[in-house]
Amino acid sequence: MDTSLPEPSADEAAHSARLADAIRQEIAATGPISFARFMERCLYAPGLGYYSAGRLKFGKGGDFITAPELGSLFARCVARALAPAVRACGDAAVWFELGGGSGAFARDCLLELQALQALPRHYWLLEPSADLRERQRATLRAALPAELFVRCAWLDRPPQHPWSGVLFANEVLDALPVTRFTVASGEVFEEHVTTAANDAFAASNRPADPLVAGAVRHLQRHLEHEFADGYRSEVLPQLPWWLEAITGEQARGATLFIDYGYVRHQYYLPERTDGTLLCHYRHRAHANPFILPGLQDITASVDFTALAEAGLGAGFELVAYAFQSEFLIATGLDAAFTAARAAAPDELARYALAQQVKYLTLPGEMGERFQAMLFARDLDAEAVFPALLAVDRSTRL
Ligand SMILES: C[S@@+](CC[C@H](N)C(=O)[O-])C[C@H]1O[C@@H](n2cnc3c(N)ncnc32)[C@H](O)[C@@H]1O
Repeated sequence: MDTSLPEPSADEAAHSARLADAIRQEIAATGPISFARFMERCLYAPGLGYYSAGRLKFGKGGDFITAPELGSLFARCVARALAPAVRACGDAAVWFELGGGSGAFARDCLLELQALQALPRHYWLLEPSADLRERQRATLRAALPAELFVRCAWLDRPPQHPWSGVLFANEVLDALPVTRFTVASGEVFEEHVTTAANDAFAASNRPADPLVAGAVRHLQRHLEHEFADGYRSEVLPQLPWWLEAITGEQARGATLFIDYGYVRHQYYLPERTDGTLLCHYRHRAHANPFILPGLQDITASVDFTALAEAGLGAGFELVAYAFQSEFLIATGLDAAFTAARAAAPDELARYALAQQVKYLTLPGEMGERFQAMLFARDLDAEAVFPALLAVDRSTRL
């Protein structure tokens, strides 16, 4: 992990100081705030949070790169994977993307769905950041033919009426504000954030409330061991309710999450004593969430066992859980690569495509760190997703 972070510019430092002041005021008014609340403000405070302010985040000039930002192959494969579900949902089918980032995924996905003759009636985007919503709108207006752009609509909240189709989210779960806990003498504590004498933010532990304590006890029961004294990690106690809120009105269709993470027994390895929380600032990763508020991304890996529990609890069938590499290969990476290569204008573009495949699939890159979890509701999974059933590894959960 690289800890030599580049200095922010004067403007960035002033922006960060404004957010830090606002958080300090909240702490002064209410007392220490939960880490989840701190993370929420750092990422989503209107106009100031990391995702809510205008700085470039994704790609080479930003802080990190996501699969849709590498090129179009990822979106093409996801479109191929879910096109049968769109068709199975009929003329009124919707594609619902959570956290669309720069809009790159929606652009490449809609173009591929058009080529596959599997266009949904609507392409909904739910994006909490006003700045990213505008960026997505600009990207899609500029890149899509009018007959595709008119299908795009931005939602202010999860749909409140029944709908059918697919829901897709890449790297959204890792951006949900996490609860940080520590165990000491058998008791569960929740990390809170307070201000130290020098005005810096600092962690302070408080006895966990029953929801957090219950979530940690559930982990221990499932893992069949108690966490050692001082063990610190993260949990998303709100995940089942969040999933229910997002998908509660999905009458029929498929829901696909892709993200980095682990099955539970690997997430909460006894030797992983400080959890998975990571911060990204200009392609440097480090573990201190208390610096650079509003300028750095803060993320935690996904407990895919918890996601499976939440999905099953919400009434979904778990269709497949696979490494990203297996998922992309099963859904036509080879064909997407061959088509893109044939259309590439020069050797440089062909080289970039080959690099894209490597980055998406090599185990040390995104291939195994990232995993896909596919759920279905009221669909014949064997008929709609035969290739994905063949790569399912859900017995690992
Ligand atoms: C790491 S970025 C990933 C962006 C994009 N999916 C990609 O792969 O390039 C996380 C995205 O999730 C959005 N997000 C965070 N919390 C969300 C939520 N509760 N619902 C929908 N989107 C959310 C962020 O604003 C951002 O667009």
